Amino acid sequence: MVAPLKVGIAGLGTVGAEVVRLIETQARVLAGRSGRGIRVVAVTARSKAKKRSIDLRGVEWVKDPLALATHPGIDCFVELMGGAGDPALSAVEAALNAGKSVVTANKALLAKHGLKLAKAAEKHGGALNYEAAVGAAIPVIKTLREGLAGTGINRVYGILNGTCNYILTRMEQEGLSFAECLTDAQRLGYAEANPSFDVDGHDTAQKLAILASLAFGTKVAQGAVYVEGISSIAPEDLRAADELGYRLKLLGVAVRTAKGIEQRVHPTMVPKSSSIAQVMGVTNAVTIDGEGIPPITLVGPGAGGAATASAVVADIADVARGIRAHPFGRPIAQLRDTKKAPMERHEGGYYIRLLARDFPGTAAAIATRLAEQKISIESIVQRHPNGGAASPDGKAVPVPVILITYATHEDAVRRALAAVQKDKVISGRPQVIRIEKN
Ligand SMILES: NC(=O)c1ccc[n+]([C@@H]2O[C@H](COP(=O)([O-])OP(=O)(O)OC[C@H]3O[C@@H](n4cnc5c(N)ncnc54)[C@H](OP(=O)(O)O)[C@@H]3O)[C@@H](O)[C@H]2O)c1
Repeated sequence: MVAPLKVGIAGLGTVGAEVVRLIETQARVLAGRSGRGIRVVAVTARSKAKKRSIDLRGVEWVKDPLALATHPGIDCFVELMGGAGDPALSAVEAALNAGKSVVTANKALLAKHGLKLAKAAEKHGGALNYEAAVGAAIPVIKTLREGLAGTGINRVYGILNGTCNYILTRMEQEGLSFAECLTDAQRLGYAEANPSFDVDGHDTAQKLAILASLAFGTKVAQGAVYVEGISSIAPEDLRAADELGYRLKLLGVAVRTAKGIEQRVHPTMVPKSSSIAQVMGVTNAVTIDGEGIPPITLVGPGAGGAATASAVVADIADVARGIRAHPFGRPIAQLRDTKKAPMERHEGGYYIRLLARDFPGTAAAIATRLAEQKISIESIVQRHPNGGAASPDGKAVPVPVILITYATHEDAVRRALAAVQKDKVISGRPQVIRIEKN
């Protein structure tokens, strides 16, 4: 009979506690599916005294993560503390250098040090599994790494942050402002007290960098991701999107282009008919465009203790079975440097909302500047506030103008709008949102 896999877990918070619980409640199923038992033999966390809702009788408490990582009594080190630095980094490195397998849910660690850690795994023969790091319970890492091993990938994109999707969904459905929805998200525990990591797009960028590496066989390059968050989105953008047949999502998009790999995170108009547009609230989704097959969309919970633990335990089960995939889908020596496609050469349609000053010649001046940059307009909507009536003080009221362009280059849009601003025919800054077609 094969000996059980002995697991050490560092971190007993939202995810770690659920992992301990799941390994216990699913012990028989896991043993059946893995061909051997899985036992948590040792744990660590910051505070030993903290009250936890899990039964740790018979489990050794190890004082610090590094000691647990190299503990001779464990086969598999599970890192669930979080953070790109220590103790997570040094503990994971130590475990891999000791030839142990590692399972982690830590996207920050993988996005920043994934390559170095994968090298250590390859050198010493342990597995490095991180399914929960992107999309929690959605098996997107396995899909890219194993399920689509024989398929060329052209594009992978998705809703990778539940907080942002929750905020945009509420804004769309209830006409509320960004600030109102963010406050609600914080009250309900969907957003952190300091929400900038989520709403400014950095969480999505870390996850996208991991997906791009798996999709295109490149070294993880978090610094190559262009990032814009959702805080500038106004209710009128969501209303306009709806009227024009789009939904607004914070997307992470990695796409192969003639100029290199584009990796970008930004608010995006997606056609209402697309699968990704149907994904509402805190739910996450990833669409993969593979060569010769229709797009595949995976949808599911992208956060939460139980959902994340589901993926962590599946990774542990793979270790128990003896499955050891290359962490980034191929041997390290075959991973290429990321050739970053410049954002200025991004090609696509654009949504542009301007506040045009209401005097003769404004529309013509805007149209001229766009034409100078060879930008063609697919549709234009002009909304007269107060039904076109002048303001009570008799002054001209700026008129919102919404333009949808045909495919053009980012630098052409930037040049045209800079000229429009210089002409002083608009008030404030233009709102520009990229459109992603299915
Ligand atoms: N929560 C989610 O929905 C979710 C989803 C996907 C991925 N993840 C990832 O899963 C990981 C864990 O997240 P979480 O939400 O479970 O975090 P959490 O609730 O904050 O738990 C963190 C755990 O790590 C322990 N810890 C922190 N610093 C430590 C240190 N220096 N030494 C020893 N132990 C330390 C804490 O100990 P104490 O309990 O004693 O304070 C706690 O048990 C992160 O990488 C996160 O990005 C989380």
